[in-house]
Amino acid sequence: MSTYDAIAEEYRDSKQLPFREQLERYTLFQLLGDVRGKTVLDMACGEGYYTRLLKRAGASEVTGVDISAEMIRLAEDQEAGQPLGCTYVRADAAAFRPEVPVDLVVATYLFNYASTAEQLGRYCRACHGALKPGGRLIGVNDNVRNIPPGTASLKKYGLERSCPNPAAEGDIVRYTITNADGHRFQFDNYYLAHETYGAVFRKAGFREFRWVDLWLSASQRRNPFWDDFLSNPPIAAFTATR
Ligand SMILES: C[S@@+](CC[C@H](N)C(=O)[O-])C[C@H]1O[C@@H](n2cnc3c(N)ncnc32)[C@H](O)[C@@H]1O
Repeated sequence: MSTYDAIAEEYRDSKQLPFREQLERYTLFQLLGDVRGKTVLDMACGEGYYTRLLKRAGASEVTGVDISAEMIRLAEDQEAGQPLGCTYVRADAAAFRPEVPVDLVVATYLFNYASTAEQLGRYCRACHGALKPGGRLIGVNDNVRNIPPGTASLKKYGLERSCPNPAAEGDIVRYTITNADGHRFQFDNYYLAHETYGAVFRKAGFREFRWVDLWLSASQRRNPFWDDFLSNPPIAAFTATR
């Protein structure tokens, strides 16, 4: 059983927290640009939040892959209720290879499940192998460049994050999320240094790997509510090109 089988519904509901739309989703789609007509693989798709958004944004084919049976069940339920033409596969992203290489691989919060450089390498090679030459890998991840002394300042966003400081390779980064309905749940990511990410992506064959600081959606730019999040960002985006 995967960890997410037990928290699948709570995780789905956490996608309604404002930071998801105003920062995570906004930044991801700014980086993606125009996806119309593109083939996309959504690695670690969860219950398909971004898989559906990518299809709605005009991608020609979108396949979501996740290791959690319960996450895939939730994704397939939504596809059955409101068919968009998304395809879901339950598989370990490290071992998944699409039949035909795709234009874009999206990976939101996959790589932070690697607790060693070797495991990160397996995820990277799978993403690289799934892409056409020139294809792009874009995603969001735990912000391994920011190991904060405390997390109290993030509570108002429904988020707490803790990890040893200084952090060592493989240390646990624990997230506690409080949904709008007050429901709290936890999951663990793993810390690997940002230098490890850079080296592993290069070794997997990516021509470039770049961290991107989150952008706040235009409608929120003058809203001081976001200052604490942006001065202590727990998550970051990235891009890489095959
Ligand atoms: C934080 S959730 C993110 C889900 C989705 N990408 C999103 O942004 O809503 C992390 C997901 O990664 C999945 N996952 C973890 N390790 C995986 C692996 N080796 N292969 C595929 N999925 C994995 C979990 O089951 C979970 O659904």
